[in-house]
Amino acid sequence: MLELRSVSARYNMLTSFVNAVDNVNFRIENNEIFGIAGESGCGKSTLLKVMYDLLDYPLEVSSGTVRLYKGNSETEFVETGRLKEYWWKEISYVPQGAMHVLNPVAKVEPQFFDAVSRGYHEKMKKKELREKIVEYLEELELSPDVLNAYPHQLSGGMRQRVLIALATFLNPSVVLADEPTTALDVVVQKDILTMLMDVQKRMKNSMVIVSHDMGVHYQVTNRMGIMYAGQMIEIGPTDEIFNHPKHPYTQMLIGALPRVGDNSQKEGIPGTPPSLKNPPAGCRFAMRCKYATDECRKIQPETIQVGEQHFAACLLLGQNVEK
Ligand SMILES: Nc1ncnc2c1ncn2[C@@H]1O[C@H](COP(=O)(O)OP(=O)(O)OP(=O)(O)O)[C@@H](O)[C@H]1O
Ligand SMILES: [Mg+2]
Repeated sequence: MLELRSVSARYNMLTSFVNAVDNVNFRIENNEIFGIAGESGCGKSTLLKVMYDLLDYPLEVSSGTVRLYKGNSETEFVETGRLKEYWWKEISYVPQGAMHVLNPVAKVEPQFFDAVSRGYHEKMKKKELREKIVEYLEELELSPDVLNAYPHQLSGGMRQRVLIALATFLNPSVVLADEPTTALDVVVQKDILTMLMDVQKRMKNSMVIVSHDMGVHYQVTNRMGIMYAGQMIEIGPTDEIFNHPKHPYTQMLIGALPRVGDNSQKEGIPGTPPSLKNPPAGCRFAMRCKYATDECRKIQPETIQVGEQHFAACLLLGQNVEK
């Protein structure tokens, strides 16, 4: 299980900072699929990199920490700076645009070997490891022939499946997947989501899925968080978020979704998010929010509980204003 404690992260641009993640707090439980949603540029991928401890220049954590609890322990954990030692076997990551991650001039097999042998603790002969990989691919209904292919010989969906197999082969307790279905056609998207759900059911581990597509969250996640301009503005069970969204931004996101049988014109969300280089002092959504008051523009809203396991950061919710 993974816990984020007041995590802020930024891109150090020498003369300025892009504050892509601001004071994020939440916890991923065992045996759940947690979704992270929000529009392009709100910091979803940055947050996932921080959760994986993938902090390459110019990205840096400016405060807070991520804790990875070992096994089912409530007390034993490792934190940001040391998570790398647990890559592949305890925590794994499928990056955004993963279809381009595989080396185009090498066959899949050596790439698979290279990645998994780094995380494999037991000494195992190559032949035995190959047998295990083939067995695992078959469990995931993937033909072992993919091992002999070059990445360009595989379709986008197949490459994504290979990467999911790779990320889950060592049975890590946390799997992070960034936009696993983006750029794939609808039928293939469905296959990938089904594969992720099957793997999670089998392993009973924790999975985090980042997607800007609310439909993906509706289909696969148990709980989800909504990001806006670097902050987590609402978090809760997925059905609560869809049926009783509390933050005005979430309400607009849900309101903009097409529904079967409803032909009415959908409202988009007018305006654009604020710059992450110099974000406004008050609520970051205030300039686009139809309920915003002068106070909203001055005071940063605290995250408050608005239901069972349901939290949101909006000043007006604290004042019991029905929205
Ligand atoms: N390497 C980088 N250097 C500087 N700024 C960056 C870098 N990568 C991302 N950013 C900025 O950080 C902010 C958050 O970006 P991030 O990629 O995390 O957003 P996202 O929510 O994943 O967007 P998308 O849905 O488009 O993938 C954006 O303003 C982006 O321009
Ligand atoms: Mg992204």
